[in-house]
Amino acid sequence: MSEGTYHIEQMISSEEVDRRAAELGRRISEDYRGRVIHMICVLKGGVYFMTKLSSCISEDVPVTLDFMSVSSYGDELKSTGVVRILKDLDQPLAGRDVLVVEDIIDSGRTLHYLLGMLRARNPRSLKLCTLLDKPERREMEVKVDYTGFEIEDRFVVGCGMDFEQKYRNLPYIGVVEFD
Ligand code: IMP
Ligand code: MG
Repeated sequence: MSEGTYHIEQMISSEEVDRRAAELGRRISEDYRGRVIHMICVLKGGVYFMTKLSSCISEDVPVTLDFMSVSSYGDELKSTGVVRILKDLDQPLAGRDVLVVEDIIDSGRTLHYLLGMLRARNPRSLKLCTLLDKPERREMEVKVDYTGFEIEDRFVVGCGMDFEQKYRNLPYIGVVEFD
């Protein structure tokens, strides 16, 4: 794949992403009123959306952050199903209202495993927010509480998502078209 040429076509503009993040932020702020949201970012892809989303949470709903890093991919385009913790969370989850923020759910393998692991740490609640979902690719069941956009089975980059570690910084969501 990597030796072929490709180009990137815009699929969702940065304005649409911002608008959707604001909508989700409002909904999440309502749902968590009177609580503290403990947001967990799955590095590296989730970091762009997490900062955007957390900035859209109402100022009277406090947010705390933690980060973890897992590896689930043998190569860039296909899930191996093997999930390994590369960096664990700094803080315990017991009694907290945890919101996991992801860039994209594809086969669901990563999140299925990860959510099971986080649930075992006894949070008060555990929810999942993803910028993108590719439901037709699902192999393992994952309950998604908040979704930015459902998309068809295309390989996308931008807003944190990469192709060979590149293009995470694009402000829009683009499709990688192989020429
Ligand atoms: P899953 O375990 O198959 O659900 O894979 C989830 C992870 O694979 C995401 O968090 C991304 O890091 C990566 N991924 C899946 N689809 C794409 C894509 O279209 N573009 C970039 N990364 C992707
Ligand atoms: Mg990810």
